[in-house]
Amino acid sequence: MTLWSGGRFEGGPAEALWSFTVDTSDRRLLDVDVAGSIAHASMLAEVGLLTTQEATAIGDALGEIAAEAESGRFSFLETDEDVHSAVERRLGELVGDVAGKLHTGRSRNDQIALDLRLYLRDAVDGRISQLLQFMSTLIDQAKNVGSTVVPSYTHVQQAQAVPLAHHLLSYAWMISRDVARFRDARERIDVSPLGAGASGGSSLALDPALTAEHLGMHGVFANSMDAVGSRDLAAEFVWCVTQAMVHLSRLSEELVLWCTTEFGWVTFADAFTTGSSAMPQKKNADIAELARGKTATVIGDLTTIMTLQKGLPMTYNRDLQEDKRAVFHADDTLSGALGALGGMVASAAFDPPPPDAWVTALDLAEVLVERGVPFRQAHHIVGGLVADLVAADRDLATVTGPELVEHDARFTVADVARLDPVESIAFRRTSGGGSMDSVREQIVVLEAFLGHI
Ligand code: ARG
Repeated sequence: MTLWSGGRFEGGPAEALWSFTVDTSDRRLLDVDVAGSIAHASMLAEVGLLTTQEATAIGDALGEIAAEAESGRFSFLETDEDVHSAVERRLGELVGDVAGKLHTGRSRNDQIALDLRLYLRDAVDGRISQLLQFMSTLIDQAKNVGSTVVPSYTHVQQAQAVPLAHHLLSYAWMISRDVARFRDARERIDVSPLGAGASGGSSLALDPALTAEHLGMHGVFANSMDAVGSRDLAAEFVWCVTQAMVHLSRLSEELVLWCTTEFGWVTFADAFTTGSSAMPQKKNADIAELARGKTATVIGDLTTIMTLQKGLPMTYNRDLQEDKRAVFHADDTLSGALGALGGMVASAAFDPPPPDAWVTALDLAEVLVERGVPFRQAHHIVGGLVADLVAADRDLATVTGPELVEHDARFTVADVARLDPVESIAFRRTSGGGSMDSVREQIVVLEAFLGHI
């Protein structure tokens, strides 16, 4: 029995229509659907569209449905077109004809728009707390690695020496912006569309602000067509997820490289690595590879939800039923990735080799700049030294003080101290740059951000 059977429809739907149009993916919206209905029923009673007895009967039965769902006793039937139909059908079984009053002043169009916003609000909260946990893991590891120095890379070539902690914190900063994006999105999501009805509102004396208040939502729709026809908030959520996954994919790529014998920067606990069925020596970073790979599927979700909206005439069209798959899949994927990758990062033991000696070349050029040499000229002078050393099959670490002075009289023998990659970071002055002072300052700010929630 569909919600629209009888009336103008003779007979039931064709099997081909049913199997093509029924959505079972929305079953996970049952708890928010019930919460929305409870708020709607309360509002209907408060404005006099339900008697107190009717509202109590409906409210109690909805509570029972929520309890059935909670304990896994709620049964969906093949004849339930979607989650809204299932709840209304069960309500009818529990309270009889009065169930038919719940849909007063409401359409599935504003109902699904509400359910989606309630789901998104919870999802945002859940992902924010996981992202903060992930940041905290990165900060802990930044503290664990102390003043260990690694090369920073540009073009996958060793660039400048930096504290490994500085590298790890770069991801904490990216993730802090992911958190901020989710928080921004939450403001727009937390607005109730209930009362918009099918698309044009209602002639009944509904009080949408009251329903919103019951749901703890901070705002109410301003345009009923926008309220039922828009999905930019679902898209914004999926974009927030996608950008966070893209950040995780970058970290994942680095973790995969770092645990190779070629890099030798890190090992992970056995519990967070996988073996090979064929090669006994292998210990693979499959979690990181999958986080990287699953990012592709979330980018697919973003494409789905953008394309669903593209060129769609106002207001609700059944196309929009497909939004949920993208939202749920993106949400589940980020949640899973943060859990697994977070565990893997927490289990990491870092022990990277020191950077190549060449990473101090820029520091050496800056010594000359401090003595008044134009940077372009200093670059040229140090470049000449690099060329001489390469020709002699040597590197910067082997240069002596007198050799420096011989290469350019503005150097002093003491400048040789600047050629040790590990020592070189102590000379770094830029606030936010790759020095231990900067790392300590960053940790203070990031920890304040974590405590902010
Ligand atoms: N299952 C539908 C969806 O997810 C609910 C809204 C259906 N509304 C309608 N008028 N057919 O979008």
